[in-house]
Amino acid sequence: MSQSGKAGQPAVEPDPGSTSPAQRQDTRLDTYVDRYAERAHGMKASAVRALFAVANRPEVVSLAGGMPNIADLPLNVVADGLKDMVLEIGPQAMQYGSGQGEPMLREQICEVMSLEGISADPDDVTITVGSQQALDLLTRIFCDPGDVVLAEAPSYVGALNTFGAYETTVVHVGMDDDGLDPVALREALVRLQQSGQRAKFLYTIPNFQNPAAVTQPVARRKEILAIAEEFDLLIIEDNPYGLLRLSGDPLPAMRAFDSDRVIYLGSFSKTFAPGFRVGWVLAPHAVREKLVLAQEAATLCPPVFSQFAVSSYLSNHDWKGQIESFKSMYLTRRDAMLSGLAEHMPTGTTWTHPDGGFFVWLTLPEGLDSQAMLPRAVSNRVAYVPGTAFYADGLGTRNMRLSYCFPTPERILEGTRRLGDVLAREAELHRTFGISDNQPRIAERSQAPRPNQR
Ligand SMILES: Cc1ncc(COP(=O)(O)O)c(C=O)c1O
Repeated sequence: MSQSGKAGQPAVEPDPGSTSPAQRQDTRLDTYVDRYAERAHGMKASAVRALFAVANRPEVVSLAGGMPNIADLPLNVVADGLKDMVLEIGPQAMQYGSGQGEPMLREQICEVMSLEGISADPDDVTITVGSQQALDLLTRIFCDPGDVVLAEAPSYVGALNTFGAYETTVVHVGMDDDGLDPVALREALVRLQQSGQRAKFLYTIPNFQNPAAVTQPVARRKEILAIAEEFDLLIIEDNPYGLLRLSGDPLPAMRAFDSDRVIYLGSFSKTFAPGFRVGWVLAPHAVREKLVLAQEAATLCPPVFSQFAVSSYLSNHDWKGQIESFKSMYLTRRDAMLSGLAEHMPTGTTWTHPDGGFFVWLTLPEGLDSQAMLPRAVSNRVAYVPGTAFYADGLGTRNMRLSYCFPTPERILEGTRRLGDVLAREAELHRTFGISDNQPRIAERSQAPRPNQR
């Protein structure tokens, strides 16, 4: 089943939008509080951000953040490319540029997307400041306050924050082992229709979903596209991890099957480096025109220096070979995570088995609360992201997201051992004292994947 909620509070705080100004908790600390726009009151530091300060301490094994592991990038190649770029085209690379992005990079992006079956015209590509900005620009051009956006349950915290910043209402749609559930999608669309509402778009992450780590098989993608056709639904396909499929070729993107109904988001953050902040949107021509106007209003133009830097990397380096080497590095880490979980998790814990990407989604034994136990976990020198961060409506208390991308395999194994200790103690406490988290349970269809039961 789907649930709805006001987006923008993926952390656990109560919805400030439902509190009168006089009751607000933040007035004593922030003397500007009465000046902010209504939408600013919904902006809260996410659970991920709040965790970084603690989780970055060296004694803590952080299975929390999703930072790409770029230690193996050929820094000399990047450095040489940057030096040549400055010497050869410095004044151009350091100048303002086009709001749509540099033509050469847009052509190279079409080559990158062809690896996932997409045939595209560079003129339909708009460069953005990471795919995060693509989410912002798209929500800006499509959504008014109160508009409904469909998103998987659970979904990417950065997208939920953006949808919240534009005061949309997120309706979550459940998943199963194969990602977004078409039955739940249809039900949500029918319910909206019956209440005279229309979703502005469906936001979906078909590959190695963040945070649930499940992947839509090709048949499932086509099924979702058929429902979208039936209900005249626009789809935003967010695909930062697709090329990091750990075995076999990348799957064809949804956009490969439908160029009118699917707006595709890509990024160099996971296949090259996030610091350049280069992502892109592939959109139908009319949408692309609006996007460029929105981009000009937001930044005048996406960073030209970064675009030339990425373009030079793609021209001068075996970037496909680099992706293969990233994949074998992530494979070892994924396997360390899965074997650590198999060894250390107490009975009743379940988790997903990802084919790629960075994450594993864990479901705790009945009665345990990932948010409540986080301080105990950090005291035991292991960190994770509580499941509630990935819902707009406070669900997910029995879940947590674990990242395997960054720590070494040895640290991942140690992290799962520490986490197993914490879970075993919490389960023991629960058995002894019957402490309950008292949170609403996620309905069966929304319980995200049905992971392998331990
Ligand atoms: C699903 C998803 N979409 C978008 C982003 C944002 O990536 P970028 O660095 O391209 O802004 C991330 C980053 O983790 C992500 O996981």
